Amino acid sequence: MNDKPTPTDEPEKINDQTTLDNIHHVNNPVLDLPQIEKKYLDGVKSYTQSESTYYFSDGMAEVEVKIITDEIIRVRLAPQGTFLEDFSYAIAEKSHRISRHQCIEEEDAYIVRTNTVTCKISKRDFLISFEDREGKVMNADHSPMHWEENPDAGGYYVYCTKQANSNEAFYGLGDKAADLNLRGHRFKNWNSDTYAFAFNQDPLYKTIPFYIGLNNGDAYGIFFDNTFKTYFDFAAEDATKTSFWSEGGELQYYYIHGPHMIEVVRGYHSLTGTHYLPPIWALGYHQCRWSYYPEASVRRIAEEFRKREIPCDAIYLDIDYMDGYRCFTWNKQYFPNPKKMIADLAQDGFKTVVMIDPGIKVDENYWVFKEGKENKYFCRRGDDYFMEGYVWPGRCQFPDFTNPEVREWWGTLYEGLVEDGVAGFWNDMNEPAVFGRGTFPDDVRHNFDGQRGSHRKAHNVYGMQMVRATYDGLKKLYKNKRPFTITRAAYSGTQRYSSVWTGDNMATWEHLKIGVLQLQRLSVSGISFCGTDIGGFTGEPDGELYTRWIQFGVFSPFMRVHSAGDTRDREPWSFGEDWEKICKKFIELRYKLLPYIYSVFWEQTRYGYPILRPVVMLEQEKQSNWPREEEFSFGEKILVSPVLNPGQQSKIVYLPAGDWYYYFDNTPYAGGQEHEVKTPIDEMPVFIKAGAVIPEYPVMQHTGEKKIDELLLNFYFGQGINKSYFYTDNGDTFAYEQDIYLEKCITCSSGDKSLDVKQEIQGLFTERYNNYNIKLIQVPFDIKKILVDGKETSFEKDEAGIYWVKVAKDFEDILIRG
Ligand code: NOJ
Repeated sequence: MNDKPTPTDEPEKINDQTTLDNIHHVNNPVLDLPQIEKKYLDGVKSYTQSESTYYFSDGMAEVEVKIITDEIIRVRLAPQGTFLEDFSYAIAEKSHRISRHQCIEEEDAYIVRTNTVTCKISKRDFLISFEDREGKVMNADHSPMHWEENPDAGGYYVYCTKQANSNEAFYGLGDKAADLNLRGHRFKNWNSDTYAFAFNQDPLYKTIPFYIGLNNGDAYGIFFDNTFKTYFDFAAEDATKTSFWSEGGELQYYYIHGPHMIEVVRGYHSLTGTHYLPPIWALGYHQCRWSYYPEASVRRIAEEFRKREIPCDAIYLDIDYMDGYRCFTWNKQYFPNPKKMIADLAQDGFKTVVMIDPGIKVDENYWVFKEGKENKYFCRRGDDYFMEGYVWPGRCQFPDFTNPEVREWWGTLYEGLVEDGVAGFWNDMNEPAVFGRGTFPDDVRHNFDGQRGSHRKAHNVYGMQMVRATYDGLKKLYKNKRPFTITRAAYSGTQRYSSVWTGDNMATWEHLKIGVLQLQRLSVSGISFCGTDIGGFTGEPDGELYTRWIQFGVFSPFMRVHSAGDTRDREPWSFGEDWEKICKKFIELRYKLLPYIYSVFWEQTRYGYPILRPVVMLEQEKQSNWPREEEFSFGEKILVSPVLNPGQQSKIVYLPAGDWYYYFDNTPYAGGQEHEVKTPIDEMPVFIKAGAVIPEYPVMQHTGEKKIDELLLNFYFGQGINKSYFYTDNGDTFAYEQDIYLEKCITCSSGDKSLDVKQEIQGLFTERYNNYNIKLIQVPFDIKKILVDGKETSFEKDEAGIYWVKVAKDFEDILIRG
């Protein structure tokens, strides 16, 4: 038998007192009952196969090894030989394509093999390992899977302990406010309302039990699909082990093969889904505050944006728009005619987004409470009392969103607000948060889609199921229009229903840095549509911090300024003219980049690529990249490194191999090395990959303002062959699911004094404009001739040496000759 984990002391940063070993229970010496102790899988005694699933038994416990795809294998453990119902909130309904697989019995192991992965199950000690086709071990058990009976709640504590190689790095796990490389840390997943959280505070709002291991430069992923309180220890307690364990449920995990990190994320997306394509207005700049009210203030803010010509697409109404914080109602004193206000705002290009919380005020005269009560939609305690707790409205009850009937009902409640013209919904406090005790007690019962469970099991999916109900309801109410939702709590798979923000951060430089870590981490954990409260929720930023945060916001997938009610004004003009000018310049930059940003979202939706990609994901083979935390790419072509310190005049930025151009003046930079980059306050390190074609919109005050009459395409000259993709459609319906979109691939091939450009177009959408205006940047030769689809075409050269040529939008090839 392999040696068992011998955990030592708790790592300092973790508040929770659980260690791998102290989850022991007092054994009763009087009764002659079996001792409660950790049990480990014994040797493999037999195996059976049923289609793509193999079962291995040690005589009592069973292990299932299921082939999901060539790259993904699921492992499950049933300590007494009976598996739990195969049910998951995380996994998207989607059929996976499996090709061949087989199981071979060798002398000391069973070998389950797909075209890509070999899973070895050692007969003697039931250790499981995963290898690539060349026999390289990607991930291997340190100890056999083990468990410990839980006599109080029933079921088991379940444990998996993997080997950690000495230089193995770990990424993922959602919103953790910790170093990007998780090695040396232990984490707990238990969705928590963590106002003004600190660096290394844990747990936070979300539970994403998925990580990427980088083992000698090769990546694999582990997704521990377990909704109970889960723990991950990344070589913290013992440098040779990585463990994950849970206080209940099944030991069930997916091994996802790389070897490229980005492929692991795509594999994880193939299991848990991607975010649908957001309406394009959701990618503009959003202004939020706790709270803008009454109506006159909302109108004043909107007018100010237009007067100052600072682009903005959405204004948010936090809880004070409601009548006594009753969800789905209006405070008619503050908002006497909401429909009219929303219509006027819409006329001026603003969408209205409002808050909805899960706590429903206990009030017999309130229709939502009455309906919920009559239909028994609210959560109940173990002994059948209602789950009651205090939140904003006072005493509340809480819908059981894990009940499909409740979700259906919840979705219909939005009807009135949708009719009033509300365009988006913000689900908050859904960890669930309860004043005083923090959240629900463990004994609260949940339907769990017919699987039944206590709050121990349902806590981490509560928020996800709330926003799922919201999304599904809105999808019906908006007919074919794409909803916009945002949630604070999440579990794996939440991306199918919503965007997220990182909760109540602080107006400090440290929190700006934490945000940079969190958004990269969320992105590689399947939750690409994410943002921070720009400027910091609590506390007061000065103009410089606010401005630097706006700059980071341009490259945050979700860009929203938000702040607590007790803070000073936070609009882009609140810090004086000088700061306003710079903020405006950067918000305008967001709007110019929108066609590129929208295309990057498409790559996420359709192909499962994460939106933000840490440098380690771009060049994982280089060990010096593993700890880099500040440089990341937004999509494939733009690399940024936000400025994270006050008064910073310059910054060392690493650029991955290849050539790059500094966005603000097109200066070329060689990649594969660090550079000291000047960081004047009205610029930030933004680099465009050589060879890229970046589509650009003119500055607009909101996404619906202008019809494009020609599209600007920025060609950044690059050596060799470079492909750029961009995507377009009507911006707000699901017609793209019926192929009503255009996906364009532009291939640029450079030669000696030549550049050949080819365009391929897929899809059925028709754009309104006819031409591209092409800007040729940093062409290293004098252009003599340009042929578009065989016809010589005139072009211009400006004082900056940039060439301009107009071509028909459906050109097939362009030959540029020096
Ligand atoms: C807590 C949320 O995190 C915050 O964004 C919001 O403003 C307040 N609740 C009030 O609704």
